Formats: sequence, C-alpha cells, structure tokens
Amino acid sequence: MKTILENFPGRKGLPIVGEFLNIAKQGIRFFENEKEKYGEVYKFRMPTGMVVGFFGEKSAIELLKNDGNIVNIGNATKDLVGPIYPNSIMLMDGAQHKKDRSILMEAFKKQALQEYIQKLPTIIHKTINEIRGNKVVEVYPLFKTLTLRIAGKLFFGIEDEAFIKKINEAITPMGKAMVSIPLNIPGMVYHKGLKGRKYLSKEFLKLVPEKRKNPGADFFSKLCLASNEEGETFTDEAIVDHLLFLYQAAYDTTSWAMSYLVYNLSKHKEWQDKMRAELNDLVLEELDLKTILGLEVSMMIFNESMRMAPSVPLTIREANVDIKVDEKITIPKGTKIWVSMAMGMRNPKHWKNPEIFDPTRFDIEREEHKKCPHAFLPFGAGPHQCMGRVFAEIIVKMMMTSILQEFKLSVPNDYVLPISEFPIMRPKDGLPTIFEKI
Ligand code: HEM
Repeated sequence: MKTILENFPGRKGLPIVGEFLNIAKQGIRFFENEKEKYGEVYKFRMPTGMVVGFFGEKSAIELLKNDGNIVNIGNATKDLVGPIYPNSIMLMDGAQHKKDRSILMEAFKKQALQEYIQKLPTIIHKTINEIRGNKVVEVYPLFKTLTLRIAGKLFFGIEDEAFIKKINEAITPMGKAMVSIPLNIPGMVYHKGLKGRKYLSKEFLKLVPEKRKNPGADFFSKLCLASNEEGETFTDEAIVDHLLFLYQAAYDTTSWAMSYLVYNLSKHKEWQDKMRAELNDLVLEELDLKTILGLEVSMMIFNESMRMAPSVPLTIREANVDIKVDEKITIPKGTKIWVSMAMGMRNPKHWKNPEIFDPTRFDIEREEHKKCPHAFLPFGAGPHQCMGRVFAEIIVKMMMTSILQEFKLSVPNDYVLPISEFPIMRPKDGLPTIFEKI
C-alpha cells in the first residue's frame, strides 16, 4: 500500500502531525484548495497515518451508501472513536451494525418522538427563563445547555443540574479527543477525553442495576430491557457506550445547527420575520409531530443554514477492496478515506450563487436540493445516515418557536461569526446575539 500511495497526488506532510494543524486552521478551505491543486482524489497525512481525500462529485454518496460493501467504518474509526466510545455504533459494520441500530432506532420511532414532543416544553421554558432580562445572549452555550438537558432527561432520565454540568465538562473533551493527536499525555486533549470517558462510564454503569430493576420511561431503561428476536440483550458496557455516543452525536451537532440558524436569522431579518410568522401562533404544549414536520418555511430556512455550514462537514471510511478511480488511480484496500458532505453543498454546479443565504432554493418552485442526489447531505446517507435527523428538526423548530415568539434577534452590522470548521463546526466565540423583547 505504501508504495502505491507514494505515487498518489497530494502532499507527504509533516511527520506525526501531518496536516492536522493546517486543517484545524483552514477547515473545508484546506480540502477545496488541495482539490484545485491535485484533483478530486488526493492524499494527505494525519496523526493516525496517510489518508486519501475522495472529494469527487458522486463519490460522497457512493461511499456513504456503500452498495457493494466497498468501504467500512469500523476500521476507519477504531483508532479515533474506539478508545473514547468503544462498542458504539460508529465502530460497527454489517450485521452487528444492523442489529444494534435497529434496537437504537426504537428511540426515534414515531411514538417515542411524540413522547419527546410532550416533554420538551418544560425544558425549553426553563432554558428561556434563564436568559430573560439579558440583552445579549451567547447562544452557543445556551443551546449546548439545552441539548444536554434534553438528552439527559429523555435518554438517561437525569434532571440533576449539577450532574448535567459534570457531563458537559466530561463530554466536551471526549468529542474533541476523537479528532485530536492521540497522545495520552496529561494536559493534551486526548488525555482529557479519556479521563472524561472514564468518569462518565463509571457513573452510568453504576446506574444500570437500578434501571434494570425499576425501569422508567427514559431510553436508558428501554435499552436495559431491549432484546432481539434471539433474546440477546446488550451488555452493561454496550448500553452505556451507546447512550454516551447518542449524547455526543446529538450535542455538538444540534447546538451548532441552531446557533448558525440564529446567526442567519439575525443577519437576514426578512427571513426572521417569515419564520416568526409561521411559528407565532403555535402553542408548544399543543404541538404534535405532524404539525412540526409540516412547518415548511422554517424547514427551508433551516435547510439553507445547514447547507452553508453543515454540523458534520466530513466523515471517514476505510477501503474494503481496491477502489478504481480512473485508469491511473486505484485506492488500495485498507486505505483510510475522508469524504466531504460540505463540499457538494457549496458547489456552484448544483447551487446558484452558493455563497448567498437564500432559502428559496429549497422552495417547491426551485428545489435545487432535488436536482442532484448527492448535492444535499447534511445528515449523511446510507447505512450510517443520522438516526436523530427528525429529533434534531423537532428540537430546532420548538426552540425557535419559543425564541421568536418572544424576541427579535440581531447582531451588530459589522459582526461576522468566527467559525472553526474542524473537526466539527462551532463558533470561535459564543455567538453573542441581541435578544430584544417584542
Ligand atoms: C442538526 C443536527 C445533526 C446533524 C447535522 C447530524 C449529522 C449526522 C451525520 C452527517 C451523520 C453520519 C456520519 C457518517 O456517515 O459517518 C450522523 C450520524 C449519526 N447521528 Fe446525527 N446529526 C444531528 C443530530 C443528531 C441527533 C439529535 C442525534 C441523536 C439524538 C444523532 C444521532 C446520530 C447517530 C447515532 C449517528 C450514527 C448512526 C450510525 O452510525 O448508524 N444525530 N449524524
């Protein structure tokens, strides 16, 4: 493999860190620049070794859908995700993945979603209460608190604020550790992530016997009782790892998506007014799934926000077989491959003036997202497609209902949101937003 990759287009990169610091600094721009220099398929070095970026037009959807089983996710993520979330769904392929995913999907079926919708208003009101009276609100930490509370209550059955704070402190470095330089040295992100994992898994493992004995309505209890047709159940460790991963998967992604939406609404007042008009007469306590999914204007605005800066800009796989790209290039079996969802969502071939915020591209007359099957992938595609897509939509629409009914949002005219695009999108500041009472 080494010899073949040596002939690959792309940079050799620095030993150990490779392009890590460049990518951390430049985000998606790094990959776009490399694409201009080397073409759609090129190599670059990461701390875990040499990687091939497979950034072609159709390649993202082909690799994500994985017809023909040409790639796996387990080997691709085991060095990064493995130590932090062993047993998690992001490490699984094939039959094992299918089995565990089908049990986890219980948490996102219609009935479960309907139950969440009934529980969300209390958490949303509590979170909004805390910011009343503040003229400027840092929305990113606000939304992180909200999603932690939601996941804590609905998945784990936890409402103790002191514990939720500790979860936050532990889980933040865990997310960063998955894409850091994997050196277990005190002070390094990776070390903090492992420490966070040790703490959380110890705390949650302690709760398993009680959940098995006296199950509640939360998902933790459901997983403790879950079994497949053969009567197999999850081990205690698997239950905790699955839940911790769900927590992680929900947390940063939804917080970013909502923050960037608030930023766009603050910059584009006409769209803020349109979204408010759609949400203004709703009563949170009376909402049901059908009504929420039918909020079309809000969906167009949310989609456009995710198109411009998706929470998960890229993901990784490993080649199961030699993948022939063209006459000259074959990606050898065993190569780690990076796939970008973000690049297709900014490609002028699919999107008119992609750099402009314009939700009408999602309306029924234009439907730019339907013109090409691989252009719009904020939630991925194929077997590992996001399990929480509808849940995220529910959280965003309900929280925005509460905010927009009460506040006008704005940022100073000269404010430009500083974004860190790698490993996942997040604002470099807290996104200070002016909340003016209506
Ligand atoms: C706006 C919010 C969200 C975005 C943009 C998002 C995006 C994604 C993407 C792109 C993937 C696929 C990764 C890959 O193929 O490697 C994914 C997977 C996943 N997401 Fe989300 N996500 C969001 C919210 C959530 C929420 C709220 C949950 C759970 C409560 C969740 C749970 C998961 C899980 C469990 C997976 C792994 C599925 C599997 O491997 O089978 N996500 N997400």
